[in-house]
Amino acid sequence: MRGIRGAALALIGVVASATLNVTGSKADDYPSRPITMIVPFAAGGPTDVVARIMAEGMRPSLGQTVIIENITGAAGSIAVGRAARAAPDGYTLSIGQWSTHVVNGAIYNLPYDLLTDLAPVSLLVSNPQLIVANPKVPATDLKSLVEWIKANPDHVSAGTAGAGSASHIGGIYFQNFSHTNFLFVPYRGTGPAMQDLIGGQIQIMLDQSSNSLPQVRQKQIKAYAVTSKTRLSVAPEIPTVDEVGLPGFYISVWHGLWVPKDTPKPIIEKLAAAVRAALADPATQKRLLDLGQEIPPLDQQNPAALGAFQKAEIEKWWPLIKAANIKVD
Ligand code: MLT
Repeated sequence: MRGIRGAALALIGVVASATLNVTGSKADDYPSRPITMIVPFAAGGPTDVVARIMAEGMRPSLGQTVIIENITGAAGSIAVGRAARAAPDGYTLSIGQWSTHVVNGAIYNLPYDLLTDLAPVSLLVSNPQLIVANPKVPATDLKSLVEWIKANPDHVSAGTAGAGSASHIGGIYFQNFSHTNFLFVPYRGTGPAMQDLIGGQIQIMLDQSSNSLPQVRQKQIKAYAVTSKTRLSVAPEIPTVDEVGLPGFYISVWHGLWVPKDTPKPIIEKLAAAVRAALADPATQKRLLDLGQEIPPLDQQNPAALGAFQKAEIEKWWPLIKAANIKVD
């Protein structure tokens, strides 16, 4: 009996040490094949653009390609769920932002826990929103935009990336601040919503600067204000909300990178180092800054800082979002 128990214990020991060795050598070899970064919104939108810039910037230090996979629907919660259930081997990354990794937990019945089913890698860039409109909208400044919306409540619609997305929350916040009412039209991301804004199917959008600035520069849409205390250095012609009648209407959309829980720590550290290398690279920095993105300080570019920040954001926003009683589409 003792012999059998001894043999069983020895076997457990062998299996455990084999597992440790496999895990250890996996981390040493990592990455030995392409990595997939799951983007929770449509291609061409702000999260997708940050993902593609980061994927390219991380490639030299990882020595492997980072492939982008767009999985859309339910304001990004389907994509984050897919990432949370993926193998914890460092080959599936979850890129997202404030709405997907904070807000969605307050309005969707998620089959995963945002804090415990994912492990943080690093905080990425953040950018304010712009209040933008189709060029045919007659209002010439923010004050007249608000008056025009009040006069046409049934004929104004705003594009969003779904219930609870940053563009949606920004729109609700704008309605409350400006005492206006208009319709929301959900899309699979603000990339496709932008096409309809240019085409005139929708009239306005509370949109991340990174998505809107290129079309503002090409005069395909117009911008009334930036939702930050200071003007964007790359678009100094756009006034702040404080300057044009919506004092204190500040919104900043931050992005982050996560992996499935139980991903080995050395792999997470390699990914975080690749993020730091990308964010320190002048060419990557220029691409991000040109879109109005802000790069976090170096001491925020690590797993612990993102974990603490995400937790604090959940504690701050969930009560507010739950009180707003936002309906899922
Ligand atoms: C997107 O990538 O489409 C956006 O992050 C969604 C949004 O800003 O609402």
